[in-house]
Amino acid sequence: MSHELSNLRKFVAPEILFGAGARKTVGNYARTFGARKVLLVSDPGVQKAGWVADVEQTLREALIDYVVFTDVSPNPRSEEVMRGAALYASEGCNLIVAVGGGSPMDCAKGIGIVSSHGRHILEFEGVDTLTVPIPPLILIPTTSGTSADVSQFAIINDEFERVKISIVSKSVVPDVSLIDPETTMTMDPFLTACTGVDALVHAIEAFVSTGSGPMTDMHALDAIRLINGNLADLIRHPDDLRLREQVMLGSMKAGLAFSNAILGAVHAMSHSLGGYLDLPHGLCNAMLLEHVIDFNYRETPDKFKVIADTLGVDVRGMNSSEIRKRLMQRVIGLKQEVGLKESLGVFGVNLSDIPSLSKNAIKDPCILTNPRKSSRRDVEVIYEEAL
Ligand SMILES: [Fe+2]
Repeated sequence: MSHELSNLRKFVAPEILFGAGARKTVGNYARTFGARKVLLVSDPGVQKAGWVADVEQTLREALIDYVVFTDVSPNPRSEEVMRGAALYASEGCNLIVAVGGGSPMDCAKGIGIVSSHGRHILEFEGVDTLTVPIPPLILIPTTSGTSADVSQFAIINDEFERVKISIVSKSVVPDVSLIDPETTMTMDPFLTACTGVDALVHAIEAFVSTGSGPMTDMHALDAIRLINGNLADLIRHPDDLRLREQVMLGSMKAGLAFSNAILGAVHAMSHSLGGYLDLPHGLCNAMLLEHVIDFNYRETPDKFKVIADTLGVDVRGMNSSEIRKRLMQRVIGLKQEVGLKESLGVFGVNLSDIPSLSKNAIKDPCILTNPRKSSRRDVEVIYEEAL
């Protein structure tokens, strides 16, 4: 009997505690892992919003010693990872906690990698490059989008080459993710929109990915439904905790889907853009999304029909090209409802930037699971259309 090994699918996820107040269990979890001293990673914005002090208090109540590291930029840089790892070592830490959005969480993953391997973070680009486990890692997301708290991805900015590198390994799935919708109450509408659309892109890319399967499809479709049904309302009613919870649940499910099914051309191209221009990740994705859907559609029209249906498009009686048109309209409409209207040109991207952006995009691991095979020329055309 022969087996088709390429059809096998694995599913990796952290222990997840979901719900209002989940963050307050960080001290207990740290104690369970035998924490002697915690490196608490965050960034200045999250600190200003009060979430660092909140976690510090919980750690103090649990009588756990800690040191705070907030030297993390949006799109965390490799040098910051190396500084964090140096602090981890000099302070004798044995556990990492991060509170914040994708940047502090990815930086914390990077610090864990460097701490256990003793080499520079930029040496770990690619899939399955880690050889030993990283220290215990507890993540507390304060945005509902990036899903670094459940994913096998760490994205680090190579500030010397102005590119982002993707590190993909189950070793960077945290031990525990404390997903607490209350922490997202301090996000402004722009960040709420960017991270929410990022989550939607995760779900769509995971669903059409060549690495998708039944275990990821259900989470991807649930995520599309939750984000489509709640994100625009949340922008209008930012103080509604129930809406925050629904969008965060959507983001979590999108994260579980993409972490295991991997992503596609939107992320490959947006990583390249983000490294080059230092723009918000979700914004980069938003500006590329409909153009990549347009490019991918013919490769997997049945799946895009399911996506259109899940986004509320009445697909009954429509032929494939009508569905394609209505799907694109719905995606653009949703972006407009949440206030994301710009295209790449507004942020200073020129035709002359496209060759180098494309060169980096086709090297990103996310391009490998894009449903339609994409050449450098294909990617250049998509960037041009998104200008
Ligand atoms: Fe993303």
